[in-house]
Amino acid sequence: MKRTVRDIDVTGKRVIVRCDFNVPTDSDGKITDETRIVGALPTIRYLTEQGAKTILMSHMGRPDGEVDMKYTLRPVAESLSAHLGRDVLFAASPAVVDDEVRAAAAGLEQGQVMLLENLRFRKEETKNGADFAKELAGLADIWVNDAFGTAHRAHASTAGIADLLPAVSGFLIEKEVKFLGDAVEHPKRPLVAVLGGAKVGDKIPVIENLLTKVDSLLIGGGMAYTFFKARGYEIGASILDEKNIALAASLEKTAKEKGVALVLPIDVKAAAAFDNDAESAYYDADDIPADRMGLDIGPKSAEMFARIIKSAGTVIWNGPMGVFEMPSFAEGTKAVASALASSGAVTVIGGGDSAAAVEQFGFGDKMTHISTGGGASLEFLEGRTLPGIAVIPDKGE
Ligand code: 3PG
Repeated sequence: MKRTVRDIDVTGKRVIVRCDFNVPTDSDGKITDETRIVGALPTIRYLTEQGAKTILMSHMGRPDGEVDMKYTLRPVAESLSAHLGRDVLFAASPAVVDDEVRAAAAGLEQGQVMLLENLRFRKEETKNGADFAKELAGLADIWVNDAFGTAHRAHASTAGIADLLPAVSGFLIEKEVKFLGDAVEHPKRPLVAVLGGAKVGDKIPVIENLLTKVDSLLIGGGMAYTFFKARGYEIGASILDEKNIALAASLEKTAKEKGVALVLPIDVKAAAAFDNDAESAYYDADDIPADRMGLDIGPKSAEMFARIIKSAGTVIWNGPMGVFEMPSFAEGTKAVASALASSGAVTVIGGGDSAAAVEQFGFGDKMTHISTGGGASLEFLEGRTLPGIAVIPDKGE
């Protein structure tokens, strides 16, 4: 168990907190999804209640070390002020840290909160530059990492700074590690994983790791077609990850050897083109016409997946079942989301797309845990060590 803000005296201290405020914005710079901001509130509230002087920092987008006001964190400061019911001071300097910012940090009163400008306006951030880590550390007495979504990056604010200040995790990281960790390591069985997404290649490490943990592995989405091909099915114009066909076959073999039920769709919805309005119909999985592309799982598969999900003790879901952004091909993903919502299982949603799908279909509050990490939750499910978590000492250390 990692040390958390509860394990350190923060009263009267300047506490710098790495959050993941990498939130989507529209063309007017308006935030369109505040999930990650809301996820950071418990730690910030705790710090203010304890009388800490809180300095928040985050990246947004990938400005690559250039100052690009499309990625300013000012809208995040406004959103935070509204959620917290108190003014969050925005340190608007594009240098992120300069004399003015240092003076503002030094002048913070107990319970006050300030937010720095986008860390990635400085190119040293993603390079884990020692000098930049020092500049950030110079603002505070304690470093808190609460940026689960960025915990797979070893950057100045997520890793380098841990060498310079006492390091603890925030409540969001604590929660993510607990739910994702328990789902994989101490699940209520049967443990069912539902994996989707376009390419097998992107999911190989997660499939390999989960095959050592789960009782059933349900595979949908674009990557199912590579598994079909490996079985010798005709997949028409469906997406194919050509170089991973042999690997798909060997993953099926591994599943068999380990006694894991690797379940593929038995029918699909296939269309004449990658277009919501294209002519489409349902086909058996091994009978897709040459001129059709599968864009969703079919109703028989959805029912089969739902049956397995309903008898699960724990379900981990990563990746949609089809092109759910197009209403014509959203049914399979919706059926899986609905099955999770109505099951009595512990349900853990990892990954940006599945989290978006669950929210889009209105099932968000029915899930046990929806991860705020996309790449980070995937790496976690791959069994990899996340640098932003590894740098935090364990309790009692
Ligand atoms: C994410 O959205 O996955 C995180 O904020 C990390 O962003 P990055 O992939 O640009 O490092």
